[in-house]
Amino acid sequence: SSDYRVKLVEVGPRDGLQNEKRAIPLATKLELIKRLAKTGLTTIEAGSFVSPKWVPQMDHSSEILQHLLQNPPPGPNPLTFSFLAPNLKGLSNAFTVLSQHPTAFAPDGTAPTKEKPGLEIAVFASATESFSRKNLNCDIATSLTRFKEVIQAAKDTHSLRVRAYISVVLGCPFEGYDVDPHRVAEVATALLEMGADEISLGDTTGMGTAPRTKELLNCLSKAGVRNEDVAMHFHDTYGQALVNTAVALEHGIRTFDCSVGGLGGCPYSPGATGNVATEDMVYFMETLGMNTGVDLDAVVDVGDWITKEIGKENASTVGKAVLGA
Ligand code: HMG
Ligand code: MG
Repeated sequence: SSDYRVKLVEVGPRDGLQNEKRAIPLATKLELIKRLAKTGLTTIEAGSFVSPKWVPQMDHSSEILQHLLQNPPPGPNPLTFSFLAPNLKGLSNAFTVLSQHPTAFAPDGTAPTKEKPGLEIAVFASATESFSRKNLNCDIATSLTRFKEVIQAAKDTHSLRVRAYISVVLGCPFEGYDVDPHRVAEVATALLEMGADEISLGDTTGMGTAPRTKELLNCLSKAGVRNEDVAMHFHDTYGQALVNTAVALEHGIRTFDCSVGGLGGCPYSPGATGNVATEDMVYFMETLGMNTGVDLDAVVDVGDWITKEIGKENASTVGKAVLGA
């Protein structure tokens, strides 16, 4: 039944790579997306229209978007590609590409096909003022004003679906564990009222624990945020990502972000390690009888390939076990 279906959002090509110091060639990024598309994943975060001065690794995002529209990668399922955009400048860089291919993607509200992928823009707010300043160079209120413009323009101009992240929801590198779940609920409600289609709750620092995940989700539910509008974005810094995932599943959440090979880390969160590995997430869901639609062996192979390609250790426990490494 649909209650056993889980949507995984692969964030490896963006969250996984954004923090890499060495420049990763465009061809490697495109090859990663192409390989991920073959595993059964349906949603892939492919780039980020942020300032190249702030995050140089994401500077290929226009080329990536262009390539994905011109040559949608083949796979078992129709795909949706997601790109971060923090402001109108980032959105207009995305629009420059979209205006050249205005019919190459499925507008929001229509089903993506293998020929016409879906497209999504993602804005990213913060649960604390200090993280907002570090990550976006402005306070939360100002960021929300900008996101309102971005959400409206994304929808009005190209009928794009919009996801909205909230970072540091379970712990902040600057304010510690002292993140108010009511503040998270306020920001989530504001973003949903602006028209965001989905809120992804980011445990940027991996400081989330099972009881605090439960407390946060209860608080959001009480504030009227619906489970179907929420995704969880766990980082595995303290090894708690799957425990927290279990708590969120129990609460009724069915969308989870993950990154192949456990790649990742946020440039504005010192010491942050990768997202929960896609391999670990797929394996975990299989043990629970949940259906992800993703082929475990196929995604393990992608994790093995990309970590070797960029010279990083494979951070997926399941990946290493399956590979016998
Ligand atoms: P700013 O310096 O305040 O921007 O940065 P500004 O508006 O003052 O503009 C300064 C210059 O940047 C101007 O150029 C702008 O045109 C340019 P100049 O006139 O000096 O030549 N500019 C841009 N260029 C390209 N793309 C843009 C853009 N915007 C301005 N979009 C800004 C503000 C938001 C741009 C900056 O802070 C920034 O890029 N931040 C992004 C930080 C980031 O990418 N963080 C990682 C993603 S979030 C994350 O990883 C967490 C997540 O995974 C969830 C979780 O784990 O919690 C999502
Ligand atoms: Mg992240």
